[in-house]
Amino acid sequence: MVKTKWMTASIFLAIVSLNNGVIAEDIVFQEPKPDSVVEESEITQPLYTSTADEVQPQNQSQADEVQPQQNQSQANQSQAVQQQNQNQAQQLYQLKGCNACHGIDAKSPSQPLYPKLAGQNQEYIIAQMQDFKTGARNNGLSAVMRGSLSPIKHDDEIKTIAEWLASLTVEVEITETAKGAKLYKSKNCHACHGDKANNPILSYFPKLAGQNYKYAIAQMKDIKRGKRKNGSSVVMKGIMSKVSDDEIIIIAKWLESIEKKE
Ligand code: HEC
Ligand code: HEC
Repeated sequence: MVKTKWMTASIFLAIVSLNNGVIAEDIVFQEPKPDSVVEESEITQPLYTSTADEVQPQNQSQADEVQPQQNQSQANQSQAVQQQNQNQAQQLYQLKGCNACHGIDAKSPSQPLYPKLAGQNQEYIIAQMQDFKTGARNNGLSAVMRGSLSPIKHDDEIKTIAEWLASLTVEVEITETAKGAKLYKSKNCHACHGDKANNPILSYFPKLAGQNYKYAIAQMKDIKRGKRKNGSSVVMKGIMSKVSDDEIIIIAKWLESIEKKE
């Protein structure tokens, strides 16, 4: 599974590299080594202590008790069950304390360097959470996130939360003439992250539209300098060598601005 992903990513990079004039052979693909050593200076205390253990999520569907009487009520019921599952997933997100840092709506994080999660790809979220857990992702404030995973007792809980987060789709509006939009295209970012920055080509690649710009800047710089090397980060590294730190800021500000605000 992982190997297949790596091969897909490698083949894809070769294509992107041809377009971009990067010599594909220059890029060495290495499986990131799980690195559990976190520098002390990087360790920050989680801001929030979860009370998750004291509260039990209610997974028992109440709808099971209701008997459908006709087709219309069956349709209403399945809608109600769907709504209830969504509510339970949102509840789980709160019970596990995720809202304390990422916001109750998953798009109003408590700190500029914390990411928005609303609308993010489910598979990408799951992969990142595994990488925080194993220590494969250890750049930036990863230690904060790693410490916050302790209330998670089962992989199923991650899946449920990730599914809910992915369902919170974020609409975007692109102005082609914006400086950031032009850079995003000329640097070939769209080749992986999609022309709208919310439609990446692979499910385990991240959506970027609306992301906190300070968080995005930090991640781009870390990928560029090889500090973030988990998952498929390496496929992006070659491109980043052609993006200056000033350009990173322009792109990141534009990415944050393209989320449609109701
Ligand atoms: C104490 C604050 C805190 C809590 C609580 C927290 N996180 Fe995070 N989370 C972070 C920080 C900080 C990062 C970014 C780490 C970095 O600098 O790379 C992050 C990153 C992430 C990412 C990666 C996002 C991306 O775009 O790559 C996911 C997914 C995530 N968190 C999910 C969760 C979930 C689900 C929960 C609840 C179980 C949770 N977080 C609880 C602080 C927190
Ligand atoms: C060859 C494909 C590819 C290209 C081209 C590419 N990226 Fe990425 N990018 C990725 C992948 C894959 C990740 C996630 C790595 C992982 O953790 O698995 C990523 C991660 C990111 C992140 C961090 C997202 C988060 O939520 O943590 C940002 C920001 C980003 N890319 C911006 C850009 C920008 C801007 C460009 C153009 C200058 C670009 N990328 C070009 C593949 C690419």
